[in-house]
Amino acid sequence: MNQSFYVKTYGCQMNEYDSEKIDELLIHKGFKKAKNFERSDIAILNTCHIRKKASEKFYSDLGRLSIFKKNQEKLGKKIKIIVMGCVAQAEGEEVLKRNSSVDYVVGPQNIQVIPKLVASANQKTLHTSFLCDEKFDSFPISQDKNVSKLLTVQEGCDKFCTFCVVPYTRGSEYSRPVESIYAEARNLVNNGAQELTLLGQNVSAYNSSVYKNLTENGVSLAGLCKILSSLEKLKRIRYLTSHPRDISDELINEHSSNEKLMPFLHLPIQSGSDSILKKMNRKHTKEDYIELISKIKNRVPKMAFSSDFIVGYPGETEQDFEETLDLIDQIGFASSYSFKYSPRPGTPASLDKNLIDELVLNKRLKKIQKVLLDQQNYFNNSFLEKEIEVLFTKKTNKTDQFVGRTKYLQPVHVFSKVNLIGKTLRIKIEKLTSFSFHGRIISS
Ligand code: 5AD
Ligand code: SF4
Repeated sequence: MNQSFYVKTYGCQMNEYDSEKIDELLIHKGFKKAKNFERSDIAILNTCHIRKKASEKFYSDLGRLSIFKKNQEKLGKKIKIIVMGCVAQAEGEEVLKRNSSVDYVVGPQNIQVIPKLVASANQKTLHTSFLCDEKFDSFPISQDKNVSKLLTVQEGCDKFCTFCVVPYTRGSEYSRPVESIYAEARNLVNNGAQELTLLGQNVSAYNSSVYKNLTENGVSLAGLCKILSSLEKLKRIRYLTSHPRDISDELINEHSSNEKLMPFLHLPIQSGSDSILKKMNRKHTKEDYIELISKIKNRVPKMAFSSDFIVGYPGETEQDFEETLDLIDQIGFASSYSFKYSPRPGTPASLDKNLIDELVLNKRLKKIQKVLLDQQNYFNNSFLEKEIEVLFTKKTNKTDQFVGRTKYLQPVHVFSKVNLIGKTLRIKIEKLTSFSFHGRIISS
């Protein structure tokens, strides 16, 4: 009987993409997808290292899974455990040494080795080289028919923000060749995808050096978006995550001329205080950020923005925090994420012992989250009673209800007797519940 596998994904969309690829690789080799760990012969944990909470969640799941594995062994059933992703890359050796139940540790740029590993009798091996070319070349042609798909175009980061593990877990910046991205995109679009989200830890630094000898300077993210736009049935292109330093005039121009490029930009600033930004090695000031947003808004008035914020970076004063609130007030974000600072092993910031008291941290997080939520509600409320374009991607678990997204990524729920998946429709927004819209169809 075919062996079965189950992948649990922690963390960001880059991990989601890798997990999809593992699914496809293993199915291509004849393995079956199980419904959960308990029913699988191969348990794969695709881990996240970005904050302590994320890696703790993995370690506690691993503890439970190890007990399950031992109990199954007593009953004569063998299970293989594979630890993948960013914890694998950062702490792989320790994971393997300390946890006898782990069979293989596989970093994010080694997922192509998994089919071979599970077919072999060897155990306890570590695979953490940076092998981007090999990784992307190994993927089988996707059969997936989803309307909205993720597509990794870039990995790694050379920015070295002091708090962040990404430059260590995903390595230095790597851009996939345009041909390889185009081939993957064309296949997804032929299968039914109408929206692609181009992924990269530092996607705005995308630069592919070769493309049909068309350019000597390589292809930038703007160039890539233009090339992908030639796929006729592709309606929407998004990208994430960007660094303010890499938003070029060429990219802004592409937004103003390319209707397929969605007017929504996730542009993390992390803090509004210049002294904290400097300590974070962000390489931009509060004013740089404000100027950039205003330049983009001038060229592309319909553009909306989201951001990431870290509260309580070591040494953050009340004044620094106020600067962040002031920045938020000046910009007006459509949505945002905020996190408590979490010291990560191996990062320069983790050596700074000037930690902020937990009570203060909690108070600041609560405050920033309220301000950001108010802004999000304000932004969303401006769509009430309006007609907007929605691309429907899925059926919900309610009878005759479908869900799609606006250009600004807001989810919209609509009842329909007719299947709406894959349709772009004008919807009148009638109700707002927490983060989603409810509306009715106006026209096709
Ligand atoms: N502590 C808290 N938040 C972090 N992020 C990255 N590293 C840390 C850390 N050590 C946040 C940043 C980044 C997002 C993906 O995660 O805001 O933009
Ligand atoms: Fe991490 Fe983003 Fe900074 Fe790169 S730019 S180090 S991914 S926070």
